Amino acid sequence: MPVETRLTAAAGPLPQAVLTAEAEVLAVPVGAGPELSAAEIADLLPVPAGELLDFYGAKGEPGEITALPVRLGGQARELLLYGVGDGSPRALRRAGATLARRGRGREVLVASVPDGDLAAFAEGVLLASYDFKIGEPLTGKRAALGAMHVITEEATALERGAVIAHSTAFARDLANMPSQEKSPAWLAEQAQKLATDTGLAVRVRDEGDLEAEGFGGLIAVGSGSARPPRLIELTYDPGMSFHDDAPALPEITKHVVLVGKGITFDSGGLSLKPNDNMKTMKTDMAGGAVVIAVMAALRALGVGVRVTGLIAAAENMPSGSAMRPQDVIRHYGGKTSEVLNTDAEGRLVLADALAYADQVLEPDVVVDIATLTGAAKVALGLKHGALFTTQDDLATALTRAAEASGEALWRLPLIDEYRPSIDSDVADVCNIGRQGFGAGSITAALFLREFTGGRPWAHLDVAGPARAMSDDGEITKGATGFGTRLLLNWLTTQ
Ligand code: BES
Ligand code: MN
Ligand code: ZN
Repeated sequence: MPVETRLTAAAGPLPQAVLTAEAEVLAVPVGAGPELSAAEIADLLPVPAGELLDFYGAKGEPGEITALPVRLGGQARELLLYGVGDGSPRALRRAGATLARRGRGREVLVASVPDGDLAAFAEGVLLASYDFKIGEPLTGKRAALGAMHVITEEATALERGAVIAHSTAFARDLANMPSQEKSPAWLAEQAQKLATDTGLAVRVRDEGDLEAEGFGGLIAVGSGSARPPRLIELTYDPGMSFHDDAPALPEITKHVVLVGKGITFDSGGLSLKPNDNMKTMKTDMAGGAVVIAVMAALRALGVGVRVTGLIAAAENMPSGSAMRPQDVIRHYGGKTSEVLNTDAEGRLVLADALAYADQVLEPDVVVDIATLTGAAKVALGLKHGALFTTQDDLATALTRAAEASGEALWRLPLIDEYRPSIDSDVADVCNIGRQGFGAGSITAALFLREFTGGRPWAHLDVAGPARAMSDDGEITKGATGFGTRLLLNWLTTQ
């Protein structure tokens, strides 16, 4: 369902490509440089492009469009002069998104593009074309642009952007799915299907396995729901090509473990949320969705490191069998935690997955991603994710990847002085910070750190940017898939 728009490379010149494709719309970039003076369509314009833009007060900034009808091949078409600003990846992403939105309801748009990062342009086009709708797809003027033909010889850059965009769209789809359908078992099935299609190994632990192997956090959080928890484990081995059984690369290959919070609905449990806070909680598995989506794109992007994806999936519900405040959980590997608020459930399932990663998978680095705390949203708002890490070099690498991909991270500190806030009288740690410390996203991160075994680790709290209130550039209202692009960017540079 997600992205209906097809994006392809085409040969120029632009007017010829428009005729060949029978495009209703043609688009030409305008920006700062003289090379973007719309020369290729100059003879279609009633007045020179510069004068036209001046007349409309347009400055060639990304997000701007100056539209006018033109006659080409004996019929009327729409010409879009679209701003590309400084031509940076960020500007091209926004420019692509603006074109895709403008092209809604049309069959074919042919665009010429400036020199620059066409992968970013492709991401903008495809992600802005994303829709999630149950039932019939959108029709008429709201339907996604059918196809965009881009005049370029860099088909591979477009293709790379398309892989990243489709992966992000897949994460959005999973997170937008209503929880009535989206149980932990459903999520596991989606992962299984995907693994088959993209050359990954998959293992799903059901509630019996989890109980037997001591995943106490997943069991406790899932115990209130009629739909039991799952631990999904996806494995990517770069040495194995998709369709043959070539031997795996030697163990020297770096091993990255990604861990995603997969709470398929967060009611808060017995510490029930008020309705206003609960009504967005179908997306509380957004981190897990990102991990699944990232795993699915690794082979297509030729990632050279081993990657294991763990998705800790459970539904947090109140019931007669739900976990209670003051219960003590024994996590994977034996550490215990005291539950003082059943709504701080994400860290409880992540603890199991982090401990399992440390003790069994021997990772060189672990990155978890989770819609973990409302406090992260308060601190950084909806456009930045919070980054916590024990390693400065990892902070640098992830922040760079974030910047390059258009998904911003901001590092917050793991303040050791706050560690006593999660001391428990009866267990190793307690699942909420004691009164008086504040810093809810930091104390949550400190809780997680207890389970990492001192391995290089980063934690992304995406409670803010995982969901958007409105469309903006390549972001669409609802689940955003935030983290997919930055993690893929980081993994491809490992
Ligand atoms: N899933 C929520 C965090 C959240 C809040 C995500 C808002 C997206 C938007 C998490 O499980 C939660 O409920 N956290 C509590 C922790 C508290 C009980 C210590 C919170 O942030 O209020
Ligand atoms: Mn919660
Ligand atoms: Zn939650």
